Amino acid sequence: MSNSNGKGLPAGFKKGLEDVVAGESKICKIDGQNGKLYYRGYRIEDLAENCSFEEVVYLLLEGRLPNKKELIAFNGELAGMRELPKYVVEIMQEVAHKTTPMEALRTAVSALAGGDKDVEDITSDYHKAIGKSLTAKFATVVAYYHRINNKLKIIPPDRSLSHAANFLYMVSGNRPTDIAAKAIDQDFVLHAEHGFNASTFGVRITVSTLSDMYSAMTTGIGILKGPLHGGASEAVMGQLKQIGSVEKTEAYVKDALARHDKMMGIGHRIYKTYDPRARILKNTAKKFSESRGDMKWYDMAEKIEEIMLREKKLYPNVDFFSSIVYQNLGLPLELDSPIFAVARIAGWSAHALEQYDDNRLIRPIEYYTGPLDLKFVPLDKRK
Ligand code: COA
Repeated sequence: MSNSNGKGLPAGFKKGLEDVVAGESKICKIDGQNGKLYYRGYRIEDLAENCSFEEVVYLLLEGRLPNKKELIAFNGELAGMRELPKYVVEIMQEVAHKTTPMEALRTAVSALAGGDKDVEDITSDYHKAIGKSLTAKFATVVAYYHRINNKLKIIPPDRSLSHAANFLYMVSGNRPTDIAAKAIDQDFVLHAEHGFNASTFGVRITVSTLSDMYSAMTTGIGILKGPLHGGASEAVMGQLKQIGSVEKTEAYVKDALARHDKMMGIGHRIYKTYDPRARILKNTAKKFSESRGDMKWYDMAEKIEEIMLREKKLYPNVDFFSSIVYQNLGLPLELDSPIFAVARIAGWSAHALEQYDDNRLIRPIEYYTGPLDLKFVPLDKRK
């Protein structure tokens, strides 16, 4: 071990596993220097423009894009798995008023495991079936949470609608316009996968102990909930609301930076340039805001972007403009993080399958910095 950092840590050690290669994967490539992202080799721009969420789920789980016939069958398969068992709905009715939506989602996924008699099955086919089932059900759980928590009647899934359109329908009770359905569909595609990010890595760690799919997915939900990860989108809109107007933006950001506070939705561990997902979402947020004649949030966000680039050389990440898209879609702020989960379950499932297929326990080591050989004092002699 080199002593280059003065603490006896290995040369090049950085906190937070920065730059550590933690495994191999064929699912996602992030080129942080050049702002490029690929799912299974396809450019994110092509997928976001041309593919439905279902098509991308198929790509992630099967490793290739479906043909027309396969996609129709897959759409039907997922749509048929959306409904929740009655006992899970009852649990949600019990907990919704006492929990945040991410907590309710975590609880519902745990409960779903209880109803699966094959939960310890270790075949690939079974794991894939659970990945599909949970991908279909996450949207239902989140929408049901919203309806129950707001004392509204639950709207059961409509099999004739796409995954994205059905989600908006179950939340609001209205069939969405094509533009709204396309916007949330594209948002799901952009959030579906992102390599060894914190929640996905957590999923892989859980799988590496040969624990079950439901436990792995609850790990993912728990990690995604944090404001430095999936919780950022909600925090972005919270900050925009606190700032209040474009005129007050510059002073707010400068004060925040002086206090070493973070501007949410800005910065990324991997991207050292524009996050390609944020670029696409920025465009959607702009178009949406223009079409609704309400540029307030968008203009403030652009101002923050400009200041953060100038002052800190930091760029917006995926959560920055997605918060404005959700606002324009009339989605409640508290659903921002759960929407991320509704999409990311696809990536989590693909990574779980990959980890199960070529598993070795994930178990890093720590560099111990505490004392050694302390004199042991029996309990009755301790002060
Ligand atoms: N606002 C202000 N400063 C920021 C910042 C932000 N959003 N993100 C990073 N920085 C600054 C840090 O203060 C630090 O500055 P310093 O070197 O002067 O102390 C430097 O940039 C490095 O930040 P650090 O937190 O160590 O980077 P990281 O790689 O560990 O973190 C994030 C990456 C995403 C966690 C971080 O950028 C962040 O907290 N962003 C806001 C939360 C967010 O949007 N999360 C969603 C991610 S998709």
